Amino acid sequence: MDKRSPSVTTFTLNGQSVDIAPAPGERLSASLRERLGARDVKVGCNAGDCGACTVLVDGAPVCACLMPAQQAQGRQVETLSGLANDPATRRLKESFQDHGAAQCGICTPGMLVTATALLRETERPGIATVQDALGGVLCRCTGYRKILEAVVAAGQGGQAPLATEGTVGAAIRRLDGQGKVDGTERFGDDVGPAGALELHILRSPHHRAGFAFGDLTALLSIAGIEALLTADDVPGENSFGVIPGFEDQPVFAESEARFRGEAVAAVIGTPEAIASLKDADIPVVWQERAPALGLPNAEVEAEFQLHPDRTGNIMCRGRVSSGDAEAALAGAHVTVSGTFTTSFVEHAYIEPEAGFAEIVDGRVHVHACTQAPVMDREALARILGRPEADIRIVPTGVGGGFGSKLDISIQPYLALAALKTGKPVRHRYSRTDSMRSTTKRHPGRLDMTIGADADGHIRGFRFHGDFDTGAYASWGPTVANRVPVHASGPYRVADYIATTAAIHTNAPPSGAFRGFGVPQTAVAQESLFDELADALGIDALEFRLKNALANGTPTVCGQVFEQGVGIMACLEALKPAWEEALYRTRAFNKAARAANGPLRHGVGIASGWYGCGNTSLPNPSTIKAGFLADCTLRLHQGAADIGQGANTVIAQIFAEALGLPLCQISLVTGNTDITPDAGKTSASRQTFVSGNAARLTGEALRADILRRSNAAVTATITLDGTTLRVTDGATVRTLDLAALSPDAEGFVLRAEETYDPPTKPLDADGQGIPYAQFGYTAQLAEVEVDLALGTTRATRFVAAHDVGRAINPMLVEGQVHGGIAQGLGMALMEEYIPGRTENLHDYLIPTIGDVPPIETIIVEDPDAHGPYGAKGLGEHVLIPTAPAILNAIARATGVRIRSLPVTPSALHAALREAEP
Ligand code: FES
Repeated sequence: MDKRSPSVTTFTLNGQSVDIAPAPGERLSASLRERLGARDVKVGCNAGDCGACTVLVDGAPVCACLMPAQQAQGRQVETLSGLANDPATRRLKESFQDHGAAQCGICTPGMLVTATALLRETERPGIATVQDALGGVLCRCTGYRKILEAVVAAGQGGQAPLATEGTVGAAIRRLDGQGKVDGTERFGDDVGPAGALELHILRSPHHRAGFAFGDLTALLSIAGIEALLTADDVPGENSFGVIPGFEDQPVFAESEARFRGEAVAAVIGTPEAIASLKDADIPVVWQERAPALGLPNAEVEAEFQLHPDRTGNIMCRGRVSSGDAEAALAGAHVTVSGTFTTSFVEHAYIEPEAGFAEIVDGRVHVHACTQAPVMDREALARILGRPEADIRIVPTGVGGGFGSKLDISIQPYLALAALKTGKPVRHRYSRTDSMRSTTKRHPGRLDMTIGADADGHIRGFRFHGDFDTGAYASWGPTVANRVPVHASGPYRVADYIATTAAIHTNAPPSGAFRGFGVPQTAVAQESLFDELADALGIDALEFRLKNALANGTPTVCGQVFEQGVGIMACLEALKPAWEEALYRTRAFNKAARAANGPLRHGVGIASGWYGCGNTSLPNPSTIKAGFLADCTLRLHQGAADIGQGANTVIAQIFAEALGLPLCQISLVTGNTDITPDAGKTSASRQTFVSGNAARLTGEALRADILRRSNAAVTATITLDGTTLRVTDGATVRTLDLAALSPDAEGFVLRAEETYDPPTKPLDADGQGIPYAQFGYTAQLAEVEVDLALGTTRATRFVAAHDVGRAINPMLVEGQVHGGIAQGLGMALMEEYIPGRTENLHDYLIPTIGDVPPIETIIVEDPDAHGPYGAKGLGEHVLIPTAPAILNAIARATGVRIRSLPVTPSALHAALREAEP
């Protein structure tokens, strides 16, 4: 008879018997991570929606967050780390690396565990079987197709392995892939030390409310509660923001909360005390006030003003003008107009914001998932009232960012709590806190009119976009300024006026999300291009080719690129697929109409462009590298790799420039004490800007070695153990690194180079040089619409992207797939509504069943400024997706939708309205 306490739960974890005493109702995921150290089990939602925490229980995949730990009694539990010797898992891990199926890697343990169960049961599953099996595990990075291919290939015994070595142009495995498939990569919530205190953040339950605290100190009498934080505890400025002059968001609201989810106080205590603390335990009285929600149609009344110095809630405006748009439109043969609206879109990365802070030798160390470690340090210095030298940011693995992790989130709370208690403090946002308190894609209301002459050339273009920037500035100024530069699309438009306004509302701040407003604007421009083409009786692709930018033609900012304008090549690349799909879908619809069937097929195209880096602002990156005396070759690259592949791409570029293989590089990634500032991971700048810094650093180090060896530029450098050799024709010289004096960092040879793209400020009409390079794209989407139900299913994408030079084609494909999946979500299902869609079962993102096959066509029209010709890509990939889908829906149904997302109910209503 078992004489142990009934509160003890005994089960087998990865082959070992374990005893735990879980609290009543404790989730198995929490027991595994916090009691048993199984940090390979990731937690994304705690609600069974994302599947990141999937483990095997008696061989069956189970969301560990939904299973009470006591139910594990007597059962066999396997996590990814326990499957290390499972033959199916081993094949899957290799296959994931060979297909680029793990980008950020936060979903990867759940995917691999679930796929292992499938392969144990079904030896050679096909695509549909894999889709069924993995349907409960969400991935926000990959677009799923590479995961599908990887699992199918693993079932067939794998494929020829991808190379692990190669320089520019080589499709090689990610350098940081092993930790992702082993589940050992440490994300924000994986690094907190045992015994760390935790936080409970009190947030406004109202869109807008005044508030008053009762006796907060009474909380300190609760066992385990150690300290409290409010605005009064912020020693520096109680404000932050990402754009100088727009630091308007308080760490803690002071008298009025301006959005639902805004922080007003935090309580610090032991994990047990914090786990049992509820919002209702904190004495606060709310005075709910009428909020400003949604973009106003008229002047904002004074009572709805959010910030006293921003009249009409206008945070800022943007403008680009060239020629005479009104006169051109008046003289146009045909004009089309429309008002388009888009929704708040949530980033929905699978990793909620997480990290910990500690005090080390009087300095504050913050370990957190971030896209911008140096910006985090600057923001914390302001908030803490301390010099930047007192603060160290140690980025953890980032389980997806897509722009939102450019802004600080948990960092100030962790730092303030660690300073107040002197102890390590850890925190992970709940899924709801992540969704209600962090930035979103700006909803837009876009008014556009475009004219054309009878032969199909654009004559006049007028645009105004209002963007809901939420309660605080975040990246709103960037959106307002970037959009007018891009609203023309990659086309010749001589007579152009584009204006924008970023308008405050009582919603979460809108910020950076892949494209900074350009995807919203492309919806209007690319839809109206189809309407213009239809009105003129010109094929939609031909119309775009007629008007596409070319080398030597000015953009709407008057910028002229003499090389590297690849939009025509992208459009041309779609031509065969376009013509075939037009023919096929027309034939299908003819038959469907004849049979009175409910299904219709459609094909649409759309294009996009995106200027890489900051708009007309300094945008430098610095990379450092060198040899230690023992010939260790270190590359310090501080560009945050959020899954897109910066670690691999920048190392490939550096290796190419230096002339040594990747395997001899020891990579040192972001840490503000030891890596120079490579800028933020945003605006598709890392391959371009940090890549150039890596190229320059590699070239400088190589030049130094050749100079010391008195060798020609064509000489070959080799590193053989501890011997650095230079072979110059028949002459071989050895460089004795041990004989050189090390510097303070231990380098005996070093180089550190900075690259800043050449741009020029824009004048009052937006004329100038906003970006040193643009990347270009055109995509084709096919859809199937059910006229009876209003449902739309994407069935195929063809995506042509001009990347200048594909540094790593596998990573290029990964970006394209992931961007298309996000564009599909934006088009058909995603809408963040404060207070209503604050979790992953009410807020829908594409699942593995939603993303159809994607054919990627890589166009390489080299850019003079890009490293080896390379252009940025991360933002470009979703710009054409939503308008291509809208154009396909229009071609399938004859109905034009001007509001996103096109949910079944919205399409159903539009179809009914259009009925004769
Ligand atoms: Fe799947 Fe990032 S790789 S969520």
